[in-house]
Amino acid sequence: MSEFKVFVTRQLPPTSLERLAQHCDLEVWDDFLPPEYEIVLGKVGELDGLLCLLTDQIDAALMDAGSNLKVISNMAVGFDNIDIPAASQRRIPVGNTPGVLTQTTADFAFALLMAAARRIAEGQRYVQNGHWLTWHPTVLSGQDVYGATLGIIGCGRIGAAVMCRAQGFDMRILVNSLETEEEVRQLGGEKVSLDELLAASDFVSLHVPLTDETHHLISERELAKMKPTAILINTARGSVLDPKALYAALKDGQILAAALDVTDPEPIPADDPLLALDNCLIVPHIASASVATRAKMAEMAVDNLIAGLRGERLPTCVNPEIYEQS
Ligand code: DGY
Repeated sequence: MSEFKVFVTRQLPPTSLERLAQHCDLEVWDDFLPPEYEIVLGKVGELDGLLCLLTDQIDAALMDAGSNLKVISNMAVGFDNIDIPAASQRRIPVGNTPGVLTQTTADFAFALLMAAARRIAEGQRYVQNGHWLTWHPTVLSGQDVYGATLGIIGCGRIGAAVMCRAQGFDMRILVNSLETEEEVRQLGGEKVSLDELLAASDFVSLHVPLTDETHHLISERELAKMKPTAILINTARGSVLDPKALYAALKDGQILAAALDVTDPEPIPADDPLLALDNCLIVPHIASASVATRAKMAEMAVDNLIAGLRGERLPTCVNPEIYEQS
C-alpha cells in the first residue's frame, strides 16, 4: 500500500482506476450522484490527492482543510468548479483534460446545430405522439445549414474545431474572440464585434470558458440583437447564457430556437419553463460523452494526479505559475 491517500469522486473506467491504484491508497466514491461538499470536506484532511469532476465544488475552505493536498486533478477541460486563485495561493497544482475532447465536443456542437435547424427532436416527438398522418409541404420545416452564417463566440480549440466543420457546409463564419484578426482569418473566419456577430448570424455557438467576464455574456440585450430566425447553441457552460432572458426570447419569438448541452443550474429542474418549449432542445451535458473520449479524459486526469503525488509538474496544469514561484 502506498503512503499517498487519494479520493476519486466518481467511478472512472476501470483501467484508469487500476493504474491509479498502483500509486496510492485509493478510495472511489461509488454512488451515481456526486458526494456532497461536506463529505469531500470531511475526507480532504487525510488526502494527498483529489481527482474530481465538474460537479464537485472545490473552494478555498476545502483546500485549507486539506493540509497535505498535493494535487487536484479535474476530469474536465473546464475548471470553473475550482477556485484556481485559491489553489495557486496554496501552491496546489490543478490539472485538467484539454485537447482529448475537442473533436468529440465539436461534433456534438454541430450535431445540436443541425438538430435544432432541422427540428429533429421535434420530429421524433411528432412521430412518437402519432401525429404523422401524411407528407405535408410545411410540416416541421426548418432552417438551412448549408451556406448559412455561423457566429462563433470564443475561438479556442473547440470553437476552431466547430469552424472546421462549418467550412464543410460552406458557411460564412463570424468570430468574436480574443484571437487576432489574422489568427481568425487563418482558421477561415472573420473577426467581428459581438454585436455585429449577433446581428448577422443565422447560428450562434458559444465556446467561451465560464469566468466573471463571461457570466451571462448572452442576456436580454444580446438576444434582442439576434435575428428572429437565429438559433443559439451552447456547449460551453450554462451560466454563459442568462436562462430567464433566453426563455423570454424563445417564447416571444425574438430568436427561433436554442440547443443546449449545458444549463444553469445543472441539472435543469424538471419544472424549468425552458423544458416546456418545443423550440428549446436540451440534453444533459454530454458533448464530450463518447466512450473513447471519456476514457482518454480519465487517463489524462490520472496522469495529472500521479505527477502531482510525485511532486512532478502536471502534464496539463491550469495554474503553472505555481512552478515559477520561489
Ligand atoms: C469539460 O470537460 O469541461 C466538459 O464540459 C465536459 O463535457
